[in-house]
Amino acid sequence: MSKLAVYPGSFDPITLGHIDIIERSLEVFEHLQIVVVHNPGKQPFFTLPERVQMVTEALEERNLLRKVTVSSLDSGLLTKYAEELGANVIIKGFRTGVDIEYELPMARVNRDLTGIETVFLPSDPGNTHISSSLVKQVAALNGEIAKYVPASVIRGFKAKA
Ligand code: PNS
Repeated sequence: MSKLAVYPGSFDPITLGHIDIIERSLEVFEHLQIVVVHNPGKQPFFTLPERVQMVTEALEERNLLRKVTVSSLDSGLLTKYAEELGANVIIKGFRTGVDIEYELPMARVNRDLTGIETVFLPSDPGNTHISSSLVKQVAALNGEIAKYVPASVIRGFKAKA
């Protein structure tokens, strides 16, 4: 049994939807390793260190850093990294079936690669409309994003302005 689960993603930027998944994962697993991943299929707005910093600050503000570790992966397989960490579970949140369609092949390939299992947590119904990409769009057009992201992300956008 794994006491450690890995929660990977681009987190460009972290949202309150991600934070809900983190908090609920901690009801199931003793420790969570958040892995901020460089996804070559996406052109990120924030650099990897900026994303790590925003995640870390958001968790610090919620007093979660005792149970959550944050790291980054800029190349290489997630499964190999998870194996090195001693984790045999990946956590993924999903909002709708569209997310499942995207996630299922990855979950199956990850299991083929090293036997690691993916545990899917449904998002809170109040968060189904929150996404990093919409947050970036609204922020770029000077819209209000405070309902969707932690304070660290608001600071992150201000620092980039
Ligand atoms: O938030 P995202 O961009 O949807 O997360 C996707 C991510 C980063 C978790 C995925 O692309 C990934 O695991 N990348 C690491 C490289 C890897 O192991 N690729 C094979 C996945 S089956």
